[in-house]
Amino acid sequence: MLNKIGLIGGGMIGGVLAQEVVSRRLARTVALVDIKPPDLAKGKCLDIAEGTPHIGSDVDYVAGKEFNVLDGCDLVINTAGVPRSVRPDGTFPTREELLKINLKITDDVSEGIRTFCKDALIVSIANPLDAIVYTLYRNLKPERNKILGMAGALDGARYRYFVAKAANVSVSNVQAMVLGGHGDTMVPIRSCCRIAGMPVTSFISEEELSSIEDRTRKAGGEVVGLLGSGSAFVSPAWSALSMVEAIAYDKQEIIPSCVLCQGEYGIDNLFVGVPTILGRNGMEKIIELDLTSEESAALQHSVSAVKTTCGEVDKMKG
Ligand code: APR
Repeated sequence: MLNKIGLIGGGMIGGVLAQEVVSRRLARTVALVDIKPPDLAKGKCLDIAEGTPHIGSDVDYVAGKEFNVLDGCDLVINTAGVPRSVRPDGTFPTREELLKINLKITDDVSEGIRTFCKDALIVSIANPLDAIVYTLYRNLKPERNKILGMAGALDGARYRYFVAKAANVSVSNVQAMVLGGHGDTMVPIRSCCRIAGMPVTSFISEEELSSIEDRTRKAGGEVVGLLGSGSAFVSPAWSALSMVEAIAYDKQEIIPSCVLCQGEYGIDNLFVGVPTILGRNGMEKIIELDLTSEESAALQHSVSAVKTTCGEVDKMKG
């Protein structure tokens, strides 16, 4: 159990995170900050707290619109951002405009972390994932083990779910890994996909696997299309919580995370999704897998997409 987990952003994902931290008793105290008036963060936490007698959880909360609620957190999860939604005048912001807004929010988030919990481990979920993680790093310069982006945990879970359904086996029998950037260029690693230790191709045809991998790459959009407004929120929250549990219980668990690569996979100083061991220090180790030549090429392609995004951030921030 950690002492205090901070949640930055109390929207759809932040709300599930708060509820789960309390029900799973991952910390003595959960802190929630959200700028939304009148006081979204306090409202969400009070609602959860009033239900705790039913689940017997004594996890305490502190919440509000100011970052001081994060004082002394050991770990923070960042979901602060604005989604791409229609403006009052009926137009949509461009991708650049949206990135600019979200980078400004990330600057506020960085300032909050720097002021109130500068040594906290950071797990960031907010999109565009690769750009936000990079901006947090640029602003805060934490040790590289302390800053992790949540992408592979979710993309991998989606891949595992689709494989489990196609093979008609339990999701717990399926191991799979998705690496690279958190976007269209993500790389499902077929050579790592196993069903109860057996090669996945003994259960599912290559063709079906290809379509599963394609669906995995587009899975975020599929949910957005069905919901009508907003994006996936339960699966991203649970994915981040797998990472947090690995850290809180020092599990030394292998979960792909977006971390600063310094030479691993030939990647030079860039945040990219790679297999990591997670434990009490955050990222304990990056595992370098033997990839097939196709997978290596796909990873390098994804790395160039991430590089372009980070270049955009550098240009915007000067
Ligand atoms: N400080 C604190 N909270 C902020 C700030 C800020 N500077 N700016 C925005 N927020 C809050 C918003 O008020 C909102 O409640 O962040 C919250 C974001 O919540 P939602 O819009 O409901 O978004 P959610 O579905 O939770 O997703 C959050 O994760 O997966 C990504 O693409 C998703 O970037 C998005 C993020």
